[in-house]
Amino acid sequence: MQRFPHDFVWGVATSSYQIEGAVDEDGRGESIWDRFSATPGKIADGTSGEVACDHYHRWREDVELMRWMGLKAYRFSIAWPRILPQGRGRVSPAGLDFYSRLVDGLLEARIEPVVTLYHWDLPQALQDQGGWASRDTVSAFVEYADIVSQKLGDRVKRWITHNEPWCISVLGYANGEHAPGIKDWSQALAAAHHVLLSHGQAVPVIRANVPGAEVGITLNLVPAEPASPSPEDQDACRAFDGGFNRWYLDPLYGRGYPKDVIADHIAEGRLASETLPFVREGDLADMATPIDFLGVNYYNRAVLRSDRIPESQNAPRTVHVSDDKTDMDWEVYANGLTRLLVRLHQDYAPGRLYVTENGAAYATGPDADGRVRDTKRVHYLRTHLEASLEAIKQGVPLQGYFAWSLMDNFEWAWGYQKRFGMVYVDYATQKRIPKDSAHLYRAVVARNGLDVELAA
Ligand code: FCB
Repeated sequence: MQRFPHDFVWGVATSSYQIEGAVDEDGRGESIWDRFSATPGKIADGTSGEVACDHYHRWREDVELMRWMGLKAYRFSIAWPRILPQGRGRVSPAGLDFYSRLVDGLLEARIEPVVTLYHWDLPQALQDQGGWASRDTVSAFVEYADIVSQKLGDRVKRWITHNEPWCISVLGYANGEHAPGIKDWSQALAAAHHVLLSHGQAVPVIRANVPGAEVGITLNLVPAEPASPSPEDQDACRAFDGGFNRWYLDPLYGRGYPKDVIADHIAEGRLASETLPFVREGDLADMATPIDFLGVNYYNRAVLRSDRIPESQNAPRTVHVSDDKTDMDWEVYANGLTRLLVRLHQDYAPGRLYVTENGAAYATGPDADGRVRDTKRVHYLRTHLEASLEAIKQGVPLQGYFAWSLMDNFEWAWGYQKRFGMVYVDYATQKRIPKDSAHLYRAVVARNGLDVELAA
């Protein structure tokens, strides 16, 4: 069988700060990413999302591209500071209208809008009061979710509260590679807690505003394998899986925080004791509010080698990371997607899953004839779609796939150097050129299957 279920949701994903530009227009407030990008040394190429793909002005053209690709759905995010320039309180009608027009444009093109409420562009005003490390941000998010779902809920049925709580908390607050650039584990663990809590508290609010809503959250998950069967490597694997995956999955599925990872955090000096200082009564129940689906962002796997014993004392490696890497230096490993999806189905039984991001960075630009032959991305896409289909065959209720990304965009701390798009963006002219991968995806969507070939 090469075909997907008949109602499979084919989509692409983007996020507000990475594509919109127009950071000072129509009353938008400052976000933590404006502030972070303006700080020297934070973005590899010294750029920012100030213009990005100028999607704020060119969204009609971008919707046309998606219509041409035959997409069924578009996952995009709302810029919180466009809606509430100060984070809470005064609402900007112009900000809401922008997304309302985009939703109408998508529906006219018969593309279902799938909204992510938070894809990292926190209003700077909230960061000034502690950001996600502060519990006050939880109620601010719930108010924001209320406002947006009231406005768009008559037309938007699928909602994602947060994108990648691990990145928000660890990259933002522990290693400082992302905005707000803080390096403090105690803030990072509090931030992760508040993100999941705000998710759980927003779910019923969205449901109340949106008849027939489907609400979920998107996690970035990394399947982990020990480099050898040695006990040390197996423990390194357990610890990685615990900190990266289970720390988020377990509370969402009603199991509370994993005890072994709490012990790891204590051992690392990140927590003082088993009592998590940020957890209050009722929080664990709120975080575990039942959801309709789990969104999974998959890019690569992790192979763990212990650093607790000298290499010479460890068992020989049995798992080798291949040299097939993307421009992010991430290993191309499609089988990891099947394994991840099967594991989630077995261990957490989310009921319904979507791959909400999957893709690869390759810099390939236009040839002399104007065509973008992104052969490696074509290969990545095909093999990961095969891996998705394999998971479905193994019984995983996977109901959709969103490729990251529609077009090249601002790749956070890497700036514009990493190109993830299926559509090439010439940033000097803002011209869009569908790459070979976009042509392949278009054919796959039309066929609802992988038995398609690209024109030579
Ligand atoms: C994910 C982010 C997305 C994009 C991809 C490459 O972590 O959600 O915005 O940057 O990685």
